[in-house]
Amino acid sequence: MMRKLFVAGNWKMNLDEADATALAGDLRANLSGDQVFAKVDVAVYPPFVYLPAVGKVLSNSKIQVGAQNVYFESRGAFTGEISVAMLKDVGCRYSIIGHSERRHVMGEDDVLINKKMHAILQGGLEVIFCLGELLSDREQGQTEKVVERQLRNGLMAVEPADMSRVTIAYEPVWAIGTGKTATPGQAQEAHAFCREIIADMFDESVAQQVRIQYGGSVKPENASELLGQKDVDGALVGGASLKSDSFTGIIKAGLNL
Ligand code: PGA
Repeated sequence: MMRKLFVAGNWKMNLDEADATALAGDLRANLSGDQVFAKVDVAVYPPFVYLPAVGKVLSNSKIQVGAQNVYFESRGAFTGEISVAMLKDVGCRYSIIGHSERRHVMGEDDVLINKKMHAILQGGLEVIFCLGELLSDREQGQTEKVVERQLRNGLMAVEPADMSRVTIAYEPVWAIGTGKTATPGQAQEAHAFCREIIADMFDESVAQQVRIQYGGSVKPENASELLGQKDVDGALVGGASLKSDSFTGIIKAGLNL
C-alpha cells in the first residue's frame, strides 16, 4: 500500500511572533505549486500563542497547522490548559500528544496520553501520537517492550475507524535534539514493529494504512534515506524545521523518492 508522506515541523518553545509568521510566509512561498502537496502532506506546529497569527499567514494554503499539546477536558477550572474545541476554533487540524518532552520533562504518563487521544478523536481533530524509547531502554534491549507498552496504552479503546485520524511518530528519545539520528535500518525496524502491534490491536488493513513518521535529528542530509524506508511514512522535525531552507529541503527529499 502506498501511504502519502507526511512531513511536519514541531517548533517547540522557539521563535517570537515576528519570526514565526516570517517562517510561515517563507514556507508558503517556497512550497507554492501543487507538485509538492500531491506527494507530501505538510504541517507546522507553532507554540499555542502564535497559532492564530501563523494560521492567518497559511490560510488557503496547503500547509496545515496543528498544536503541540492539548488537554482532555472540554472546559472548566484547568488553569493554563487548552481544549480541543479551542484548537479547532483557531484553525488547527492536528494536535501532537505524547511527545517525549511532555512525557519526560512534564511527567505525562500513558493514562493521560490516552485521555488526550480520546478527547481529540471525539472532538474531530487528528492526532499525532509520539512514542519512543530512552537510550537506557535501547541499551538494555527494552526498545520493543517500551514501544509496545506506549502503543497499547496510548491507543487503548480507540475505534478502528478512528485510526484514519491517527498518525504515529516514532521518536527515539536519544535522537531528539541530539544530532544523533537512528540509522535508516533502526528506524525501519522500529516502524515495522509498530505496524505489527497495530495489526494485532486492530487488523492488517489498519496497520497498512496508518502513517508512521520518524522523528529525531532529521535533516536535509539524512531525510531521503530515512524517508526511503518501506515503513517510514514521513518525518516529525524539530530543530531543522525552524529554518525555511532546511525544512523545505527535508520535504523535497521526500519528492525525489
Ligand atoms: P529534532 O526534534 O528534530 O530537533 O530532533 C524532533 C522532535 O522532537 O519532534
